[in-house]
Amino acid sequence: MLAPTSATGKPRIQGTRAALYGKEVEPAIFEEQAQANPLHQLETSPIIRQEEDGQCDSHFAVHNREVEIMSQDYLLPSPPAPAIREAMAKAVQRKDKGLDVYDFSSGNIGNLMVSQQIFSTMDVRVADSVIPELRPIVEGLRDGIVSAYYPTPKGVAYSPTGGTNPIRALVARYFRELHGIPIADEDANKVIVTAGGQQAMTAALRSIKPGTRVLIPQWEYGPASGIIRSHGCEEVRVAMTDELAIDMDDFRRKVVPNSVCYVSMPNNPTGYMSVEQLRDIVKIMSDADGAVVWDAPYLLTLVRLDGAKATFDGKMLQETLNALREIGEEFHPNLCVLSSLSKSCLIAGLRLGFAYGSTQWVDNMEAIVGRENLSSPTPSFIAGAEVLRRFLDEPRSYEWVCRVLANRLSILVEEMGDHLILPKNGLFGALYVLVSTGDQPCKPFADRLIEESGIVTVPCNQFYGGEAHAIRLSLVSVPWTEGEEGWKASVQAIKSAMQ
Ligand SMILES: Cc1ncc(COP(=O)(O)O)c(C=O)c1O
Repeated sequence: MLAPTSATGKPRIQGTRAALYGKEVEPAIFEEQAQANPLHQLETSPIIRQEEDGQCDSHFAVHNREVEIMSQDYLLPSPPAPAIREAMAKAVQRKDKGLDVYDFSSGNIGNLMVSQQIFSTMDVRVADSVIPELRPIVEGLRDGIVSAYYPTPKGVAYSPTGGTNPIRALVARYFRELHGIPIADEDANKVIVTAGGQQAMTAALRSIKPGTRVLIPQWEYGPASGIIRSHGCEEVRVAMTDELAIDMDDFRRKVVPNSVCYVSMPNNPTGYMSVEQLRDIVKIMSDADGAVVWDAPYLLTLVRLDGAKATFDGKMLQETLNALREIGEEFHPNLCVLSSLSKSCLIAGLRLGFAYGSTQWVDNMEAIVGRENLSSPTPSFIAGAEVLRRFLDEPRSYEWVCRVLANRLSILVEEMGDHLILPKNGLFGALYVLVSTGDQPCKPFADRLIEESGIVTVPCNQFYGGEAHAIRLSLVSVPWTEGEEGWKASVQAIKSAMQ
């Protein structure tokens, strides 16, 4: 159903509803629960009301007209849908609805086995030792692993690239609840599911018209730059201050009409996060009839950083997320938001990413992914859907991750703070820290660390678009233990190598 619109053509948003784990609740109960879990605030969602009679409309069955009528000159035109993908998707949809299907769609040879029981039993149990905050994710993983192969092996068959409607509905819910984007579960044409956030990023950037100016911060996720350039777009780096903030004067100078900005926020590799700057960037790009590709896989890995001490602050995270949701609500027609389960659910190897964008953006991404992959990674999407559902019902894993992150960062700052390049605005996000290599070029510096001491880091030239004089340390590639012995040993190793 179309939402009522104001004179400007925008849906009228008049309030919020309180929802816990997807169910509407009395505001008093919501408040009480929100005290207990900061992410509950995330689930307040805009209500779109009828202008005349004040009745509540279907909450998010909103096709935002401005998206459909905006020219989006920076995007390639919507290509024809990939024929095999379309046929496969139609077959799956009919099967899901219990309708007759006489399937001649693809070389889906896995279907020859898919109705047979190939494992006589499959018994996967969650260990008692699983950390409570991670339990919903592990339980989702268990259900997903089993249902991919048992009682019949659905996971061995091709499945449509971009995801089936049930998984897209979950992704729509993710963008609604975590990013404040007013879309309905049924808005399958505005979301896409990909083999990791990296594929979402690649497809989103390749959907841009070659020749378009694409602004990216000086420090930015390395692969984005390569894709922008190889696709024939004009990459323009925006200066950053010594405090790792984006130089907004430089940004304003470099924006031209119909340009696009790609930004990861929280940022890989600097850890920089600023709601105010993200808001300014999105506003400036919207005013220039352009768009922002906001790469947001680190939405929930954000800690407080006061001097040498990092801490997990649930209230601060909640406030940040609420402010970010307002950006999504207000500016979604000019946004393409990328994310994945890799970081929020600790399942990077499973490969489940997703994106929100206008129909034209998603059409392009669909064609790109559909051309390059014949099928989604079916077992990953089956398991990922289960994990995503649990995560949305009970978003808790981020708390544990943020505590681990804060503790590791504090240890690192205490041991070798002088070498680190850190944001100075009191926040720290994503999973990486920059280490200065002084006046030494970073590539030979990183090579020496590996060869002489077995210390593996990433030289940052590709993150900087030139000689960076910095290497990047991941805070999460050392496996976690209760006493963090592995992390402490790694920090000591790099500390002594740097002396
Ligand atoms: C900013 C950013 N975007 C996208 C990705 C891709 O992650 P994945 O493909 O695991 O979702 C990464 C991975 O490190 C990243 O840092």
